[in-house]
Amino acid sequence: MPFIATLYFRTAILLLIVGIGVGIHMSMAGDHSPMGAHAHLNLLGWVTGALFGVYYALHPGKASGRLPMLQYAIHMIGLVIMIPALYLMLKGNASLEPFVAVGSLVVFAGVILFGWIVFTGDDRSTA
Ligand code: HEM
Repeated sequence: MPFIATLYFRTAILLLIVGIGVGIHMSMAGDHSPMGAHAHLNLLGWVTGALFGVYYALHPGKASGRLPMLQYAIHMIGLVIMIPALYLMLKGNASLEPFVAVGSLVVFAGVILFGWIVFTGDDRSTA
């Protein structure tokens, strides 16, 4: 399996562990206010990250070079900015909203770059 696919799966499972931890903490505390952070961590971190990994595993020809690593870095940097800021914002720190906005736009940029990778280049080297 290409390195970038392994990297995505390893990161995604770590994010799922944290995401479920947040879910269990919300349940135990009886405070569901950070639900949006939990949902986005699980869906952008675990589900989307694992799907990116599946794509690279199925298309090893697209998995080499700098572009997939750049795409991974942008996605993860976006999440690292967005999710903690979203969590804290939903807990009442309204001043963190600009970080949520910036993080969201970085995540979006990573998704656009993934779209570029999907639509360009030679796609004959499928697994
Ligand atoms: C043991 C694991 C999990 C626990 C304990 C948990 C816990 C929770 C809790 C307490 C809420 C708030 C519900 C509400 O106030 O209406 C919630 C919402 C949510 N969770 Fe989880 N969760 C878990 C796993 C996951 C996973 C794996 C995903 C996605 C892959 C996920 C996605 C969501 C979404 C999208 C919402 C928002 C639902 C809505 O808008 O009504 N959760 N979760």
